[in-house]
Amino acid sequence: QPPVITIDGPSGSGKGTIAKLLAEKLGYALLDSGALYRLTALAALEREADLTDDATLTEIADGLDIRFEVCDGKAAALLESRDVTDDIRRERVSMAASKVAAMPGVRAALLQRQRDFRQPPGLVADGRDMGTTVFPDAPVKIFLTASAEERARRRFAQLREKGVSVSLRDLLEDIRARDARDTNRAASPLAPAEDAVELDSTGIDIEGVLQRVLQLVRE
Ligand code: CDP
Repeated sequence: QPPVITIDGPSGSGKGTIAKLLAEKLGYALLDSGALYRLTALAALEREADLTDDATLTEIADGLDIRFEVCDGKAAALLESRDVTDDIRRERVSMAASKVAAMPGVRAALLQRQRDFRQPPGLVADGRDMGTTVFPDAPVKIFLTASAEERARRRFAQLREKGVSVSLRDLLEDIRARDARDTNRAASPLAPAEDAVELDSTGIDIEGVLQRVLQLVRE
């Protein structure tokens, strides 16, 4: 089995950025598992499905027609052949994704799709339960955290750069709501794997975190 490096953690901990840079550096494939939940959420919203109805959502997740492609050097997510890369990042979809992700049937439906990303020479897997549920045999597991305030500030800066105006207070509230849902759900709640290394990135920049992670990979 090709090696897997799992990077789990709460929303805005920087794991997406770190996972992407790490995969590039090592020449590994990348699994953005959150994108699968976001795509499921978008498909559910488009069908006006009830976001608390596990059976319907599971059916949607099972039948999901999705592809990940690289367009002009940028990763694109396709739903039924439509480019939805930007749509799945909207706040409405983020909220819906965290609801959809609480459904045990949905998590089970997406399990094999996630494992299929494992390929030579290796995989970097970014998510909430990569080290606990999806790749429990991964040789390197990282749990990346940062304070809720710092995570809200990072998201605020990201959005401002894109010209989106939101209030920092609303973002902090959203982050806390998603943290609570991710941590308190029965199916694969957000928690570090027993053999994960915990890294707190509060006050550390991306380069600093990447160096620390590379050090762990090389050990
Ligand atoms: O970028 P951010 O961390 O805010 O979100 P994401 O990683 O794209 O994940 C979106 C949502 O999917 C999260 O709020 C989680 O509830 C859920 N998720 C999950 O339950 N398990 C995963 N492995 C990845 C994401």
